[in-house]
Amino acid sequence: MALQTHEVIDLGSSLAKALQYVNAWKRKPVVVKLGGSVLAGEDQGTLIEDLVLLKGVGVDPVLVHGGGPEITRILERFGKESRFVNGLRVTDDETMEVVEMVLAGRANKAIVSMIARAGGTAVGISGKDGKVFQAHRLAPELGQVGEIDIVDTSLLTLLSSGGYIPVVASIGIGEEGESYNLNADTAAGALAAGLGASKFILMTDVRGVYRGGNDNKALVSVLRMGEAKELIRQGVISRGMIPKVEACLEAIDAGVPTAHIISGTIPHALLVELFTEEGVGTMIVRDDVHANA
Ligand SMILES: Nc1ncnc2c1ncn2[C@@H]1O[C@H](COP(=O)(O)OP(=O)(O)OP(=O)(O)O)[C@@H](O)[C@H]1O
Ligand SMILES: [Mg+2]
Repeated sequence: MALQTHEVIDLGSSLAKALQYVNAWKRKPVVVKLGGSVLAGEDQGTLIEDLVLLKGVGVDPVLVHGGGPEITRILERFGKESRFVNGLRVTDDETMEVVEMVLAGRANKAIVSMIARAGGTAVGISGKDGKVFQAHRLAPELGQVGEIDIVDTSLLTLLSSGGYIPVVASIGIGEEGESYNLNADTAAGALAAGLGASKFILMTDVRGVYRGGNDNKALVSVLRMGEAKELIRQGVISRGMIPKVEACLEAIDAGVPTAHIISGTIPHALLVELFTEEGVGTMIVRDDVHANA
């Protein structure tokens, strides 16, 4: 049955808008951080398929991932308990070996496989490869937890322009070639800044930033930088949401136009967030930007 005229007008305007965005973002990197909680779930929904579609129309997704839950599981198997200070995993040498094995090995290659299954071609690397994330020790009591000094994007640009989807595990390299455990949100934000990404997107297990913390699920659809800092100060944004919002602030400070926190499990959430004005999650913008920019 043919569409009604008003349906044609609605669909047509959505399609035109989407294609305008596609044209504007061609050959520009979009950095997407995949949350461990998204990857640990049984069903990644349409997320990987959406990333392959984006690559197909000429937008260059670059993925960064963590793998917290899996690291904890494997450490448990070795009889090692996980300890966190301010949300950062205390990383002694033995823990660092497991972190590297799990992140750069299993977790990274699992994503590469999912992309292959969806019809794309990915290259999985750790942030040590190509010295993407150059880091130093953050604090002696945290062991091998690293803080990023320099982001070298040359390998990623090479991979993207060669038609590959780069998948980067959040591990850094030190001056002596030693490994550092990096918070994946922070690493992704630094990468979005370094690449001059047109978008920075964090896929997680909640719809975005909730106004009342976890109990009151009122979603904030547009969050200005100043307000974001205020919500952190008030404790409304807490735990795992803090490094996400801070990574968004860093990326925006460095000139990335908008950063988005969205659910990895809503079908096509990524496409709707990228290609519609309303979006599905939380969009973080500079203080001087209007709501539907
Ligand atoms: N204001 C808030 N709005 C929404 N979620 C919040 C808020 N404050 C804290 N959170 C918590 O932040 C969590 C998301 O961060 P979390 O670190 O758990 O996920 P992730 O980063 O996607 O996964 P991983 O750290 O394993 O890579 C939510 O599940 C929620 O419990
Ligand atoms: Mg997290």
